[in-house]
Amino acid sequence: MTLKHFLQFRDLAHDELAYLFERTAVIKDRFKRYEPYHPLADRTLVMIFEKASTRTRLSFEAGMHQLGGAAIYLNTRDSQLGRGEPVEDAAQVISRMCDLVMIRTFEQDIIERFAANSRVPVINGLTNEYHPCQILADIFTFIEHRGSIAGKTVTWIGDSNNVCNTWLQAAEVLGFNVHVSTPPGYEVEPERAGLFGTAHFEQFADPIDACRGAHLVTTDVWTSMGFEAENAERAKAFANWRVDADMMKVAAPDALFMHCLPAHRGEEVTAEVIDGPQSVVWDEAENRLHAQKALMEYLLLGRLAS
Ligand code: CP
Ligand code: NVA
Repeated sequence: MTLKHFLQFRDLAHDELAYLFERTAVIKDRFKRYEPYHPLADRTLVMIFEKASTRTRLSFEAGMHQLGGAAIYLNTRDSQLGRGEPVEDAAQVISRMCDLVMIRTFEQDIIERFAANSRVPVINGLTNEYHPCQILADIFTFIEHRGSIAGKTVTWIGDSNNVCNTWLQAAEVLGFNVHVSTPPGYEVEPERAGLFGTAHFEQFADPIDACRGAHLVTTDVWTSMGFEAENAERAKAFANWRVDADMMKVAAPDALFMHCLPAHRGEEVTAEVIDGPQSVVWDEAENRLHAQKALMEYLLLGRLAS
């Protein structure tokens, strides 16, 4: 197997994503039928967290266990990683003792440097710039509910953050459109989002306009991890960028609502929307498990016939 990392969404080509979405469905079905499936027996995943997590840690740890392997949790507080050991040295050592690494960290540059010195595949479990595993699960969730996402319109309301950037990359690879509405001063930066161009997204000043005709409306917290010092300033700037029933009303009649979670009801989304009939947030969260199992299997074993 050639060494393959998943550091940003576009690291996977269209045909690899198509395979992964099919594979996710197979793996999910086996899990639902309590069918043991241990293709990663004796393999070890190391998970490095420099930021908090519930879903990412749980889905990777449970997923690796369910595939027959083991997962080890490291964080910055209790390891030498927080005491200034160069990331290149840490990568050399850690990747000699395991088969796969997942990292949640700050700048994308950190994970890129780790991967450049790793003997095993590295997966991005969230950086300031990207959250590719989240969008893998989100698009699988869209496909489960509505079929192919190609040609559809996804509306992003709020901060042009790591999750937004990843939706934009996914739109380029999979051929759908993203309508983005952010407060002034928080617009998408195509270069930071790692985009090839601007053909797949449009920015709207008014969030209602961004939602018109959308097949999926999605949002995220106003303040991401690592930006807490900007909390008060952001709360003011984002006050009109709350997904509510009026926004869902102008979207397509069968539009879905997604949120990567954790959510703040009354801030970026009303309780009526996130707890309402168009919301698929619990499926979305569960699908992190299934999609990442397919991803880990693919990075370690390649394409499997059944
Ligand atoms: N959506 C997501 O990545 O959640 P956690 O921060 O809980 O991992
Ligand atoms: N944008 C959020 C996502 C959390 C899963 C953050 O980076 O904190």
